[in-house]
Amino acid sequence: MTQFVKVAKVSEVSPGTMRTVEVNGQRLILININKEFYALDARCPHRDGPLDRGHLYGSIIECPWHYYRYDVKTGENLYPRNVYPADLTYLERDLKPLQCYRVRVEEDELLVDFSGDRER
Ligand code: FES
Repeated sequence: MTQFVKVAKVSEVSPGTMRTVEVNGQRLILININKEFYALDARCPHRDGPLDRGHLYGSIIECPWHYYRYDVKTGENLYPRNVYPADLTYLERDLKPLQCYRVRVEEDELLVDFSGDRER
């Protein structure tokens, strides 16, 4: 069951930027890529690092702790997965995807679905 919650105004997340919001005690990153909005858990799935203090490179977000990189649109781990393919068996436990949430735009409001269903 979907459970959309208002989290921010569209105008608060400029194109090419990210913004952190806290909803029910959970830190969330909102990202605007060419007016498409994405909502991600702000905790890195590697060791719970603060992804919201990381860097955004287009549609890739990089964690400031160990520089793991994730695809903003899918949550898929890109680094180190794409750099050390021979070590994947060893790395697999560290390559969990980033939690993504569905985002809906209603007028000037961004709503996020916290039902746990992954859209991507
Ligand atoms: S905690 Fe994010 S890369 Fe390790």
